[in-house]
Amino acid sequence: MSSPSEVTLIPWDPLSESHKILLFKQRVECSWDMELVQEIWRDEQIRGEKCIYWIALPDNDLVGGEHEKLMDTAVSINAATRQPTQATFIPIGHISLDSRNKKAEKMHLEIPSENVFWIKALFILHTLRGKGFGRAAMDKIEGIAVQEPLHAKTLMLDTVEREDQLREEFARATYGGVPKITNQDWYSSRGYKCLKIVQNYYDAKDKNGKMWDTKTVFMRKDL
Ligand SMILES: CC(C)(COP(=O)(O)OP(=O)(O)OC[C@H]1O[C@@H](n2cnc3c(N)ncnc32)[C@H](O)[C@@H]1OP(=O)(O)O)[C@@H](O)C(=O)NCCC(=O)NCCS
Repeated sequence: MSSPSEVTLIPWDPLSESHKILLFKQRVECSWDMELVQEIWRDEQIRGEKCIYWIALPDNDLVGGEHEKLMDTAVSINAATRQPTQATFIPIGHISLDSRNKKAEKMHLEIPSENVFWIKALFILHTLRGKGFGRAAMDKIEGIAVQEPLHAKTLMLDTVEREDQLREEFARATYGGVPKITNQDWYSSRGYKCLKIVQNYYDAKDKNGKMWDTKTVFMRKDL
């Protein structure tokens, strides 16, 4: 198996049916926002407002279990043309780096008006968690954010607040069990600071159609 540092980020292709189907499937496993993939995320990705990447392992990786493969076909990312490699890869999750977060704009967060990017929709396949792939993906996306052409000075993210994530019923339905480390604690250890906590910011139904009362924590990291 690859060492976790070997993950690469390969742009999601909003024009490819197989990329859309697999992202939908991973969103169903993740439990949230599967209904956005087909049109809303497709259009935002084309406009460059969303930059969704596959968290990828090489095609020949011996990562445990059967995994679907995709081909690198996206012709743009961040609304800039790119040359796809056409290489096949194993998509073990996904992560997005967004230049806008329209919904959060209504939250009156204390953030600069420029050079701010949002890390969104981080997901690793359930069977591959706890092996350092999430960490490797965060390292990579933060690297992309600070470099040309983005020059991010502030990174933002939102996640379920620590105590709420630890609720057993919620954790079982959402993550398959109570996580060993909460998202909030993990992001804190990476330098993200709590900016604001908002009740019921997430209004999406989970994969079972249930709406959970949850607090959302908005976190900020200055680079
Ligand atoms: C959050 C998520 C992406 C993390 O992915 P992952 O591949 O499991 O992450 P890692 O293996 O790199 O572990 C993350 C951290 O938790 C720690 N960790 C993981 N398993 C652990 C365990 N059993 N005991 C203690 N710590 C553990 C790791 O040490 C790591 O910390 P580090 O970066 O300081 O080394 C993944 O759990 C996931 O997809 N969750 C569901 C969706 C979600 O909640 N996404 C975040 C939305 S904001």
